[in-house]
Amino acid sequence: MTLDFSKFKKINEGKTKIIYENPADPKSVFMQFKDDITAGDGVKHDIIQGKALVDWQTNKDIFEYLNRCGLQTHYISSPAEKVSLVKKLDQKINLEVVSRRVATGSILHWGNAVEGTRYETPITQFHYKDDPLHDPLLDQKYIEFIIAKKNGWQYKKMVDLNVQVFLHLERAFAQFKVQLVDMKLEYGIIDGDVYLIDEISGGSFRLWPYAKDNPNLQQANVLTELDPQGRLDKDTYRMGEGLDKVISKFAIIANITKNFKDLKI
Ligand SMILES: Nc1ncnc2c1ncn2[C@@H]1O[C@H](COP(=O)(O)OP(=O)(O)OP(=O)(O)O)[C@@H](O)[C@H]1O
Ligand SMILES: [Mg+2]
Repeated sequence: MTLDFSKFKKINEGKTKIIYENPADPKSVFMQFKDDITAGDGVKHDIIQGKALVDWQTNKDIFEYLNRCGLQTHYISSPAEKVSLVKKLDQKINLEVVSRRVATGSILHWGNAVEGTRYETPITQFHYKDDPLHDPLLDQKYIEFIIAKKNGWQYKKMVDLNVQVFLHLERAFAQFKVQLVDMKLEYGIIDGDVYLIDEISGGSFRLWPYAKDNPNLQQANVLTELDPQGRLDKDTYRMGEGLDKVISKFAIIANITKNFKDLKI
């Protein structure tokens, strides 16, 4: 199927996707992937030919898997290359919700965490979405206060859904000897409830291959069991590798996720 978006109304354009109205249904929208890649909250920016197609494929495979797992997502279908159909947001939640199984990245700078520390239950962190402020982390005590005292059911739901999504995807990637290290997701309100929205692709998570055939991933620190140098995710881009290398890594992710359709739930 090809969709002629020149006839559709553009609702929104972000760094990596364009949102178009669906003339046939006011409750859904089309999400078209772009070849743009950004880092540092948009400070670093490039175009990589073919990235939209690879990200679209990864996003499709992951969301179809999550829907099969019974998790509440906005994803409906992928009717054309580089295009997904999703339930339209009623209300945006201006947060990025991070889950972490293995300590690395920003948590090392401010949290006194040692790289490779394994969190027995994945930890959840909320960041306020604001590029110029570099998405500041919200205080954990404040989140707990909102959940306990202010009927913050949306926060509670986001934490629960975030952990569920993490565990399902961690198990899926484990089949291919890759560790889901951490992940950043977005949520919104649809029909009065909290839904996982936006995209999940190479820029959404850290993925480190196993360093050995039978790694011991239950121990307190798992760094020696994993191969951060072989990373498959957007850190490749953040660290200044060439764009060819970046797209080749993203293609490896898409080659893995295309098998998710065969996984037992
Ligand atoms: N189900 C949905 N309905 C409507 N809009 C959506 C839906 N899912 C995602 N969007 C919006 O699509 C827009 C474009 O996405 P994109 O990721 O390109 O934005 P961005 O530049 O990264 O900005 P942001 O920092 O808000 O993600 C975002 O504003 C996002 O909130
Ligand atoms: Mg985005």
